[in-house]
Amino acid sequence: MTLAVQIRQPGGPEQLHIIDVQVGEPGPGEVRIRHHAIGLNFVDVYHRTGLYPVKMPAGIGMEAAGVIEAVGAGVTHLKAGDRAAYVGFPPGSYCEARVMPALGVCRLPDAISFETGAAMMLKGLTAQCLLRRTLPVEGLQAGDHIVFHAAAGGVGLIACQWAKALGLRLIATAGTDEKCKLALDNGAAHAINYTKEDFAARVKEITHGKGVKVVYDSVGKDTWEKSLDCLRPFGLMASFGNASGPVPPFAPGILAAKGSLYVTRQTLFTHIATREAMQAMADELFAVVESGKVKIHIAQRYPLAEVQQAHRDLEARKTTGSTILTLP
Ligand SMILES: NC(=O)c1ccc[n+]([C@@H]2O[C@H](COP(=O)([O-])OP(=O)(O)OC[C@H]3O[C@@H](n4cnc5c(N)ncnc54)[C@H](OP(=O)(O)O)[C@@H]3O)[C@@H](O)[C@H]2O)c1
Repeated sequence: MTLAVQIRQPGGPEQLHIIDVQVGEPGPGEVRIRHHAIGLNFVDVYHRTGLYPVKMPAGIGMEAAGVIEAVGAGVTHLKAGDRAAYVGFPPGSYCEARVMPALGVCRLPDAISFETGAAMMLKGLTAQCLLRRTLPVEGLQAGDHIVFHAAAGGVGLIACQWAKALGLRLIATAGTDEKCKLALDNGAAHAINYTKEDFAARVKEITHGKGVKVVYDSVGKDTWEKSLDCLRPFGLMASFGNASGPVPPFAPGILAAKGSLYVTRQTLFTHIATREAMQAMADELFAVVESGKVKIHIAQRYPLAEVQQAHRDLEARKTTGSTILTLP
């Protein structure tokens, strides 16, 4: 028997129950992995609250790292004993060991620790799919300004560093002055405390009235409207999350009025839908981390037994960088 976290109905952190489960043998296309560290992500909150519906009772968690114990028929890229890290469906990474589809599971380079692997797969691949693949019509060139909201968070701190490595001038927003400093220390060119300042006005000031080519927005409801005001004509509004609540419905005419803007709503899971795409993206992420250009900041560690507190802190905006759940 192994420990796992289960949600039985949508709700608050009190809905996270630790239970004993039996872990079986992997079927075709599956692996059994024993975790060494588990990554916490905001999407776990959406699964728990029901914003992103999952069939209950359900496991929870999309990211972890550990050692492969067994592989099912047809799995050729992994073998028992391999160090591995993953992002992938179905939710269920908050556990000691599990059976899961092999598609999102990658061999972890020796130079990358289990904790770092668990802290970077979902968040790092998201930063990558945004900065490398979610681009305005004119593309992004070195020296271009972009806006990245919640820049001191898990995805955010990785994006700050990666943007700098690409030569982009990232304008960070964050909820406290300390978080703004953290974003600047990690490569942001500017930082705006959006709880105190009008971020659209500041972005216009920084860009001498021009606006930016892209806004990467995971905050959602609270930042949507002002984010449109940060964009230059033909700019791209890249929405990828809803930490403050979902973006309300809007009339497309607003995009014309604000300069023929483009809007996209991205999910990493479209980008990593095949094994080949997943591996190619993971290889690029591993390379940028191994080069030292992107460092993974694990600012919080909670034992698996304290998972409820971990969720409370993430939702209360108390965390920075990546958070992991540790195992005995
Ligand atoms: N589409 C995708 O494929 C994809 C993949 C990964 C992540 N995401 C999204 O990217 C975002 C970041 O994920 P993460 O796991 O790295 O989380 P995170 O950024 O570490 O935490 C979320 C941050 O959002 C900010 N925030 C603003 N308003 C908030 C509110 N009302 N309640 C809670 N937080 C609020 C907070 O930073 P401040 O205090 O600085 O405002 C908070 O720290 C999430 O929205 C997530 O859903 C999307």
